[in-house]
Amino acid sequence: MDTISQLLARKSVRRFLQKPVPEDVKQTLLECAAAAPTAGNQQLYAVVDVTDPAIKAELADICDHQGFIADAPIVLVFLADCRRWLDAYALAGCAPRDPGLGDYYIAFCDALIAAQNVVVAAHALGLGSCYIGDIVENRERLVDLLGLDEFTVPATLLVLGYPTAQQLRRRKPARFPLAAVVHTDRYRRLTPDEQKAAFAAKGEAFDTFVPPFCRRKYESAFMAEMTRSMRAYLAPFRG
Ligand SMILES: Cc1cc2nc3c(=O)[nH]c(=O)nc-3n(C[C@H](O)[C@H](O)[C@H](O)COP(=O)(O)O)c2cc1C
Repeated sequence: MDTISQLLARKSVRRFLQKPVPEDVKQTLLECAAAAPTAGNQQLYAVVDVTDPAIKAELADICDHQGFIADAPIVLVFLADCRRWLDAYALAGCAPRDPGLGDYYIAFCDALIAAQNVVVAAHALGLGSCYIGDIVENRERLVDLLGLDEFTVPATLLVLGYPTAQQLRRRKPARFPLAAVVHTDRYRRLTPDEQKAAFAAKGEAFDTFVPPFCRRKYESAFMAEMTRSMRAYLAPFRG
């Protein structure tokens, strides 16, 4: 399959065969992460390859009780890492300021782009993957569990493994039409009619789909916790 067909066909996979992923395959995925574009070629990220089943189980609980994380053959936590270069600057005799939000921004971009390279490489190798955004919840527990530093912030978690037959059969969720997300030259808010048409094009009835979705996602307890936790993660970035 060529790259374009693979990008179009990829879908999230949340259930895996209990078939181990060979070590050389995992190394290839990690090499693909390292080969991703990175601001100033700094690689402002760290990857924690979680192999201990007890740590996987704790991560599943921290991430809004998503049990499938504990059963995933590969669990990778991508950190925006503003510590490693800070230490290098200090070691080289510079007097570095604390990292600021700009530093955090490029580190976060680096981490996510590296993760997406893993997602694409995994698909090409017959593996499924799923992002877990809830990794930014419960800061205090995660800091303890992974030994995080004040300048290492989780960006995302990826679970990976060989997909079950049921997961292979599952349909990839539809996307909004391009007209709803692509703008020419300047951003323009959608009109009410365009909004409804965008949902209809995805097969979702606006009036019955959006209100419960708002309650379940936007107004959810998990999102409130993500926001609380992110504020705490970013408080030390005063530079
Ligand atoms: C930033 C981000 C966070 C996500 N967090 C979760 C998550 O916590 N749990 C989960 O099951 N899927 C999660 N996903 C996967 C999305 O639900 C999935 O990508 C989306 O429904 C589209 O489906 P597809 O990936 O199969 O095309 C996340 C995806 C992204 C990009």
